[in-house]
Amino acid sequence: MISRFSYGHVIETEAILQKPAAENGALPFLTVDEASLSLTYSMDDNDKVYGLGENVRGINKRGWIYQSKCSDEAQHLEDRRSLYGAHNFFVVSGKETFGIFVDYPGILTFDIGYTRYSELKITASDWNLDVYVITGSDVKDIIHQFRQLIGRSFVVPKWAFGYGQSRWSYMSEDEIREVVRKHRELQIPLDSVYLDIDYMDRYKDFTLNNETFPDFADFNQEMKEDHIHLVPIIDAGVKQEEGYPVYEEGLKKGYFCTKEDGSPFVAAVWPGKALFPDMLNKEARDWFGEQYKFLLDQGVEGFWNDMNEPAIFYTEDRLKEVLDKIDDYKDRNLDMNEFGEMTALVGSLSNNTKDYTRFYHNIQGEKVSHDRVHNLFGYNMTRAAGEAFERLEPDKRILMFSRSSYIGMHRYGGIWMGDNKSWWSHILLNLHMLPSLNMCGFLYTGADLGGFGADTTEDLMLRWLALGIFTPLMRNHSALGTRRQEAYQFENMDGFRHIIGLRYRLLPYLYSEYMKAVLNDEMMFRPLAFDYPDDRHAKAVEDQLLLGDGMMIAPVYEQNADGRYVYLPESMKQVRFSADGTVEETILPAGHHFVEIPLTDVVLFIRPNHLIPLSKGGQCVDEVDFEALTFLSYVTEGNEAVYTYYHDDGYEKDYENPAHLSEIRISSNGTVTK
Ligand code: GLC
Repeated sequence: MISRFSYGHVIETEAILQKPAAENGALPFLTVDEASLSLTYSMDDNDKVYGLGENVRGINKRGWIYQSKCSDEAQHLEDRRSLYGAHNFFVVSGKETFGIFVDYPGILTFDIGYTRYSELKITASDWNLDVYVITGSDVKDIIHQFRQLIGRSFVVPKWAFGYGQSRWSYMSEDEIREVVRKHRELQIPLDSVYLDIDYMDRYKDFTLNNETFPDFADFNQEMKEDHIHLVPIIDAGVKQEEGYPVYEEGLKKGYFCTKEDGSPFVAAVWPGKALFPDMLNKEARDWFGEQYKFLLDQGVEGFWNDMNEPAIFYTEDRLKEVLDKIDDYKDRNLDMNEFGEMTALVGSLSNNTKDYTRFYHNIQGEKVSHDRVHNLFGYNMTRAAGEAFERLEPDKRILMFSRSSYIGMHRYGGIWMGDNKSWWSHILLNLHMLPSLNMCGFLYTGADLGGFGADTTEDLMLRWLALGIFTPLMRNHSALGTRRQEAYQFENMDGFRHIIGLRYRLLPYLYSEYMKAVLNDEMMFRPLAFDYPDDRHAKAVEDQLLLGDGMMIAPVYEQNADGRYVYLPESMKQVRFSADGTVEETILPAGHHFVEIPLTDVVLFIRPNHLIPLSKGGQCVDEVDFEALTFLSYVTEGNEAVYTYYHDDGYEKDYENPAHLSEIRISSNGTVTK
């Protein structure tokens, strides 16, 4: 059951398309204190709290304070309170079990047992919010109801399930040809190459550098013939430059965010001084969406939207203030405090909260200060694109994922997990975020495999890929100046070929589970606690996940480990894929096990009376035969495994056509019926 409680004058976020009527009675579970703009819940010692989407720390969010404030945060450290998204949905599981969604576009704080271990406290910045309370038969049911409320998740084209190679930046057509050639020569499957900011003419959105990408449409076609999709980045800030049509047209039509006096708000990002399109103004959003046509017309079928928190290097006004103040420090003998103040001044230039109060949106004729709607910017940038794709390419699936997001954006695109690092702990963070994001409707997601910042190592790359082969977005991406990390930069080519190749063998299962999760409003990745709520060991597991119907994964995330402990809530079949092509199947009893996992092995687990369809693999998604299947199964004596297989062409939009579904049965003696 879902109840909405409304306070004050709510700014519509459109996270929920059809809002239920507001209740008049008292809010259940939570205590409302309007004076302190807060809602509190008194937690039991054993209560667990799940959700909040993209955030640091564990699957159980208890014991930290989180802030919904979309941030350009390149340090995914334990002490961070916000990353790029604002995902205000969580479920308390324990004494009472219920879900809460706070639909509120401004900054919110979730103190989940941080100040007091027994207290969960949500604090808003003003008292204009919708609070949804969801109850149900169990955690999964609550999440399912929430997902139905927020609408169906976005669907990617099937090629977007292939392996993608990215780098900030591949600088030219020739450099990209080389990346593709190496993968093809070494038989490392590949489906996409990402274009980072340098493909543009001096970081101007919807332009191309004509020297390094002289024949882009032809080049894109050449790549497609080799089954490679080029996926360009689009940034939120539009360069301020006379003669640049996007800037000039946007300015003329009044489509950029303004300062209080109505003059354009100028903030610097990659191209230097830039303007932010007013993504919350419908006309401006339509106009920005139309700009994608420039690349769609050249055959592009996928994009990633970046810097849309929006990130600000500095604003014109603040830079001036800071430079004036810095002048005072000249020729002075700075003590500790003064030195600290001076460096803080420079640090205060970027993503300064005050700057977010200095610009305005035009929402249906009303001038609204950005800070009140901060968390909706990236969402609406991606919505601009998604709505435009519906108009411009109504019959095509276009890949889209964004860095910043709010619940509601999941209908228009996926997200990637942002600027992580080549750290072992970030493999685990990648795993933790998967179920939390799925809860909020973000099914197409993944991390920068191998790590974005810092230098990677071969073993980290292999271990991370061994998790990445299970995530819908499987992309290797790294930052400017870091060690190169394309698979072919390393020695163990058999290992890379094997692990990435396995992704393509698993595609029938992964794609089918993804589509079913979309169509049935379910999670693809679940903590063990959700399926085994009465098992106290399962409830504590934070480094294994259930994946779809019948699989459990337990990746290695520590350096030099030759295996790891795995907890099985019930007997399961362990399946080991080794680089020499062998597949070893072992039935293990319930309980704790140490499982040896050499660097190039991938181990997964099958739940009793379940099956997993496998393909023969391929060098790209187009080459994978989704009909010539083999099966892995664990069927106990006298039982059978029944699998609902979703299979479509991956490009059309008739998602609900029943012809895409079929049933596969395997009996305990191995007989397969389709
Ligand atoms: C941001 C993005 C990163 C990208 C870089 C350059 O840091 O998060 O993925 O490579 O900008 O565009």
